[in-house]
Amino acid sequence: MTDQLIIFDTTLRDGEQSPGASMTRDEKLRIARQLERLKVDVIEAGFAASSQGDFEAVQAIARTIKDSTICSLARANDRDIARSAEALQDAQRGRIHTFIATSALHMEKKLRMTPEQVLEQARQSVRFARNLVGDIEFSPEDGYRSDPDFLCRVIEAVIAEGATTINVPDTVGYAIPELYGEFIRSLRERVPNSDQAIWSVHCHNDLGMAVANSLAGVKIGGARQVECTINGLGERAGNCSLEEVVMAVKTRRDYFGLDVNIATEHILAASRMVSQTTGFVVQPNKAVVGANAFAHASGIHQDGVLKARDTYEIMRAEDVGWSANKIVLGKLSGRNAFRQRLQDLGVDLDSEAAVNEAFSRFKELADRKSEIFDEDILALVSEQGALGHHDPFVFVSLAQHSETGERPHARVVFSRDGVEIKAESDGNGPVDASFKAIESQVQSGADMVLYSVNAISDSTESQGEVTVRLQRSGRVVNGVGADPDIVVASAKAYLSALNKLHSSSEMVVAQG
Ligand code: KIV
Ligand code: ZN
Repeated sequence: MTDQLIIFDTTLRDGEQSPGASMTRDEKLRIARQLERLKVDVIEAGFAASSQGDFEAVQAIARTIKDSTICSLARANDRDIARSAEALQDAQRGRIHTFIATSALHMEKKLRMTPEQVLEQARQSVRFARNLVGDIEFSPEDGYRSDPDFLCRVIEAVIAEGATTINVPDTVGYAIPELYGEFIRSLRERVPNSDQAIWSVHCHNDLGMAVANSLAGVKIGGARQVECTINGLGERAGNCSLEEVVMAVKTRRDYFGLDVNIATEHILAASRMVSQTTGFVVQPNKAVVGANAFAHASGIHQDGVLKARDTYEIMRAEDVGWSANKIVLGKLSGRNAFRQRLQDLGVDLDSEAAVNEAFSRFKELADRKSEIFDEDILALVSEQGALGHHDPFVFVSLAQHSETGERPHARVVFSRDGVEIKAESDGNGPVDASFKAIESQVQSGADMVLYSVNAISDSTESQGEVTVRLQRSGRVVNGVGADPDIVVASAKAYLSALNKLHSSSEMVVAQG
């Protein structure tokens, strides 16, 4: 007899709260599709009442995704809850996740409410939500730092009102695994109606223990839902990482005795997609999805793995989406080999037209780069997914000159709404010159808050993957571009960021 562990992904809500990780509606939809492919049980799609954009994203995801439950966060008030219910109206399975802070510190300093007022508001909100949707999750925010006696009263009250999941957040990442596990266990023992709800853990990573705390909440505390994000994305040091918690439970099934639904072969593609969309690069030594997670550099390890792979490997790389053979394709590879590789990598393009487009982009790349690695293919597919078909700005070509002792100069050709624009400028370096050239025509008025270049694979033949983060009037967007020429990748990333800024406002293009 085994138990099921529910995987609740909050990349699109708590993950997106990370400064600079904001995503457009289309990007969220694309990630939601990948989460559905991963067979995530619950997708927290956003916080519908927080903005019109978030409302539309939750609504679009609720209308599109059929296999996962779609959840919207709501503060414990009628307006937020009603807005969530509206956004979830067309979901096959919808959940409202309502929360209110219960720690003395938060109640007194942030909410300026007495504990009795908080208890009453929690009770009323769950009662109100229960009339709109059958699946209600309740979170006492800063739960781990709350007085346990008070917490028990709140939890008992909301379960009595119909909450079906009780989530106990370690909002500030203060917990220690054993203590957090015991905390959950004691709450479950003390709340008289605790068996009428599923218990859930939600841990932040401020002390680097989010995954360990979540696992202790499961093992010691008896929680049966874990809230997590792809790559551990999230505010400050992030949330519990989905890939780590899932692979821990699967790899150590002997210890946890739990099943998870996750189709792990899609993990790497999800990780790449989130990293590429947000510009949050995955560190090479990150467990499961880092570039070195399955690389054996020392001679002793390599020898051991060749003789018997389990000498140094506890998971199979291909089970999380890495393919066994790292050099994959070249310019002579055909469409079928390409399609097969996409399948091996867990990439499921939406249509035949999308496969054809990806194949022709692959051929273009193979003309310039003799070996195409898995990472190149994943970048190419992510870049293609990030391109909107109605984007106004499209990269055409770039020429640049740089020489020691001379000021670099760039000429960039791009189109706006199909009209070709030629732009030139000097700059501190070729990248700076090309950005200045584009800006001389677009005059976006945006500030650059991040520029990062990452080599996709490990030789100088590698493609550069560039992220450009622009900010204007409080709005932050990420643009991405990949190319073997990093100046070209940079110009593509800059134009991609402009497209995202443009999606909500108009910009002037200088004449001439
Ligand atoms: O960390 C937290 O407390 C949260 C709640 C809203 C669940 O994200
Ligand atoms: Zn959180």
